[in-house]
Amino acid sequence: MKNKNAYIGVFDSGAGGLTVVKHIMEMMPDENILYFGDTAHLPYGTKSEKQIKEFATNDVAFLNGFELKSLVIACNTADSVARETLIKEFDMPIYGVIDPAAKKAATVSKNGKIGIMATTATVRSDAYARRIRHYRKDAEVFSLACPLLVPLVENRRYKKEDIVVSTILQEYLDQLTVHGIDTLVLGCTHYPLLIDAVQSLVPDITIVSSSEEAVINLKNSLEATRQISDTPGSERRFYVSDDADAFRQNAEVFLNEKLGSEVIQVSV
Ligand code: DGL
Repeated sequence: MKNKNAYIGVFDSGAGGLTVVKHIMEMMPDENILYFGDTAHLPYGTKSEKQIKEFATNDVAFLNGFELKSLVIACNTADSVARETLIKEFDMPIYGVIDPAAKKAATVSKNGKIGIMATTATVRSDAYARRIRHYRKDAEVFSLACPLLVPLVENRRYKKEDIVVSTILQEYLDQLTVHGIDTLVLGCTHYPLLIDAVQSLVPDITIVSSSEEAVINLKNSLEATRQISDTPGSERRFYVSDDADAFRQNAEVFLNEKLGSEVIQVSV
C-alpha cells in the first residue's frame, strides 16, 4: 500500500501540463503535487518517437527520485508515444490523458464520428483512434494535426474575440466538421485554453478536454484504491529543465492565477 500523502507526480514537455494540475487543485485540493516541465526540450509534438521516449523516460526518472503514489503523463504527445515504454521501465501506477478522453468521447458521441485535434506526433501515433475504437468498434475517428495551436497559446493568443485565433481555428475545424463529427477531443495540454474559442465556432459539437477527463479518471482511481490524501492542505513543487522565471510567467497563463510556489531548474 502506497503512502496516501505521497506526491502525485505530473510531467509535461513544459507548462501546458498545468491545465491538468489546475483540475487536480480544483477536484482534489489536498493532494501533494510534484510537477516536472521539460522546458529545455519543448515542444515534444514535433519530435521523433525515439526522442519523445527518451525525454519522457528521463522526466519520470527524475520524478521517481521522490516518493510518488502515482504518476500522471499530462502530455498527450508523451502519453501517445511513450506510455508503453514508461510502464515497462517504472514500477508505479501510471495515469494518462489519452485513454480517459477517448473513453469519454466514445461514450458521449451519438453518431460515432469523432474528431481529434492534437500535435503532429500524437496524430502520427494513432493512439486516440485506437483507444476510441477499443471502447466503440463502430467509431469513425478523424485526427488532425494542428501545429499552429501550441505556439499560439504559448504567445497568449487564445481568446475567442481574437481574429487570429478564430481564423486559424476555423481552418482546422473545417477539416473536421466536413466529416460530420458530433464530438471533438482537444487532445493536447494547451488546447483547453482554446475551449471557448472552439465552442463558439462549433456550438453544436460536444467538446472533450483531455486534461479534465484525465483528472476525473485519476480521482476515480484514487478513490477506488483508497489513495486519496487524508491530510488537509497541500504541498506543490515545480521543477523545470530550463529557465525558472520563464516557466513562472507561462504558468500564470495555464493556471489563470499566480504560481504560489518556488520553481527550481534542474538538469535531467
Ligand atoms: N504537451 C504537448 C501535448 O499535450 C503539447 C506541447 C508540445 O508539443 O510539447 O501534446
